[in-house]
Amino acid sequence: MDKPDNNTIQMLIQAAREARKNSYAPYSHYMVGAALLIADGQVVTGCNIENAAYTPTNCAERTAFFKAVSEGQREFRAIAVAGSPEGDELTQYAYPCGVCRQVMAEFCDPESFEIIVAGPAGAYRVMTLRELLPESFGPGNLS
Ligand code: THU
Repeated sequence: MDKPDNNTIQMLIQAAREARKNSYAPYSHYMVGAALLIADGQVVTGCNIENAAYTPTNCAERTAFFKAVSEGQREFRAIAVAGSPEGDELTQYAYPCGVCRQVMAEFCDPESFEIIVAGPAGAYRVMTLRELLPESFGPGNLS
């Protein structure tokens, strides 16, 4: 599967930043948006959704994955993540948490799935899932 080109990366970061505006984060005040690129070119977005009981909180990345999977999607190319304390600007890089990395490992090829982490002033970093979650436990262990 082709790696996302620069235009696609910029489009995904923009979509993640838009989704971040819907973040429901009244407890941490940390807003995250994600934009998941499907193999057919569609984009599915997500935001973090917190809860007064804390543990039901869902990260932006998992919101995007669960939306997509629940709509029948199974092949994913990349995800952009935009997270920072509340405010319009991104002031830091928000790398996916361990639980979200594990969800990615369920559905994505570790060598080719790319995680794009948006940072301050338009900067971004790109990593493969293999780099973020080496030596993982996955579907292959149970087959
Ligand atoms: N969060 C995400 O949505 N994605 C991440 O990769 C890291 C953390 C959310 C969860 C919680 O609502 C807030 O950020 C602070 O942890």
